[in-house]
Amino acid sequence: MAGECTVQQMKLRGNFCHLTLKMPLGFPEPVPGQFIMVSCCPSSDGYLPHSADSPDARFQRFAMGPVNERTTLPRPMSIFDYSRPAKRERGLLTLVFKTLGRGTLQLSQVRPGDQLRFLGPLGNGFDYQGWRRTLLVAGGVGFSGINMIARRLREAGNEPLVALGVNTRAQSPVQLSLTEVPSVYRWALPHTTEPLKLVVSHLFEEFIPSIVTSLYPGDEGAFCGTTCDLVEKLLGANPSYAGDLTLVACGPRPMLAALTAIARHSHVKRYLVMLEERMACGLGTCLGCAVQTREGVLPFEEDGPQEGPTTFKRVCTDGPIFNGYRIIWERLC
Ligand SMILES: Cc1cc2nc3c(=O)[nH]c(=O)nc-3n(C[C@H](O)[C@H](O)[C@H](O)COP(=O)(O)OP(=O)(O)OC[C@H]3O[C@@H](n4cnc5c(N)ncnc54)[C@H](O)[C@@H]3O)c2cc1C
Ligand code: FES
Repeated sequence: MAGECTVQQMKLRGNFCHLTLKMPLGFPEPVPGQFIMVSCCPSSDGYLPHSADSPDARFQRFAMGPVNERTTLPRPMSIFDYSRPAKRERGLLTLVFKTLGRGTLQLSQVRPGDQLRFLGPLGNGFDYQGWRRTLLVAGGVGFSGINMIARRLREAGNEPLVALGVNTRAQSPVQLSLTEVPSVYRWALPHTTEPLKLVVSHLFEEFIPSIVTSLYPGDEGAFCGTTCDLVEKLLGANPSYAGDLTLVACGPRPMLAALTAIARHSHVKRYLVMLEERMACGLGTCLGCAVQTREGVLPFEEDGPQEGPTTFKRVCTDGPIFNGYRIIWERLC
């Protein structure tokens, strides 16, 4: 669906933004793992969504340059959460993003009442039927891609374990507090990993029970190291559960590539990655988001031969969720 949505709320913490959008009636219920393309800029034909400001004031507010620089392509953003209070009401969709460059800077300056252009929901999303033990790994702002699947699994009574990687607690958008490990996580935290504590992360007002990994040794309660170090440690201490495990990862490409080697070495049953390529159309026509994958007739989730023919897949329409074992990481990192 393409259309306009209304900014309901915008919260900032450091360079992280939590944006709540009121979607139009008829917006389809998104599947966890899907995304939208969103922009506050005029379209290529000069159409500018409604705002209380005059167009000139608005161009100034979004720090846009001369006329030919005013159009910025919509940016892909994972659907952090979605709720619709009643059938006849408009749904509320939440995005969480980090201000990086031009597009996210403009989006970080929207105000309640602004209209944004959007396209979506897009992408394949997760099919989580049949998952049993689930380990969700997020590097940095990658947590916005796994939040919705974590919620849906939790609602289905299948509590996932979340590993959240931050550089340091100070740079993190989440506030951390230590807690006892609830029994639902015992499968993942055996005696051999006793020093690990579960941390309740407060992301704005959202709660994400997770093990937090930090590169800074002084971050109390956090596992000191990378998310890959943590996954290696968990799998090393529990070799038996890899055969029944769904490992899902979202974050920087080097992290996803390193996790592939760990998952393969430990024989993890299902290894899924959420890819974040730069996008232009979001509809599968420009081929700007293509990634090289290993071709095969194997079921979607299985590991396959590491040699043989390859093919290109579009992250916007074939993904963003892929079998991590099939991605040719050397071409991406
Ligand atoms: C399916 C999908 C879901 C996404 N979900 C989120 C999300 O929930 N939260 C979030 O913060 N971001 C998300 N992203 C990434 C987000 O779209 C980019 O951060 C954004 O496009 C950067 O736009 P910009 O205009 O700020 O940066 P630009 O000005 O376009 O670029 C700034 C810098 O960032 C680099 N860059 C831009 N896009 C990417 C990218 N996709 N991967 C790596 N480097 C990039 C550029 O090379 C440049 O160095 C997602 C991307 C995809 C494809
Ligand atoms: S963004 Fe155009 S094909 Fe994917």
